Amino acid sequence: MGFDVKGRDLVTYIPLVTSVGLAAYVVWQALGPKIGLVNPNIEKNVERVVNTMDIEDIGESISFCRCWRSKKFPLCDGSHNTHNKKTGDNVGPMCLKRNK
Ligand code: FES
Repeated sequence: MGFDVKGRDLVTYIPLVTSVGLAAYVVWQALGPKIGLVNPNIEKNVERVVNTMDIEDIGESISFCRCWRSKKFPLCDGSHNTHNKKTGDNVGPMCLKRNK
């Protein structure tokens, strides 16, 4: 038992292997760059999204978005709940609070 392909038989597989490889390449070109994106749509016109905030402006507490779905990014607006329900993910905000 085993896989024994030689000579002329091997040539018959070339179109199949080429077709599968080409199809995989086309699918990867179409979907590959989109799969695994953390940021789906925030400030896509810049090279990298960077936000700054003065510590004095934070107040007693603040929640920063880590799911990249907030309409108030970089602040959390609760959109992670919808994202988690839709995808089965478990992301949530980074919450900072001042010690009293
Ligand atoms: S909306 Fe993104 S973590 Fe809450």
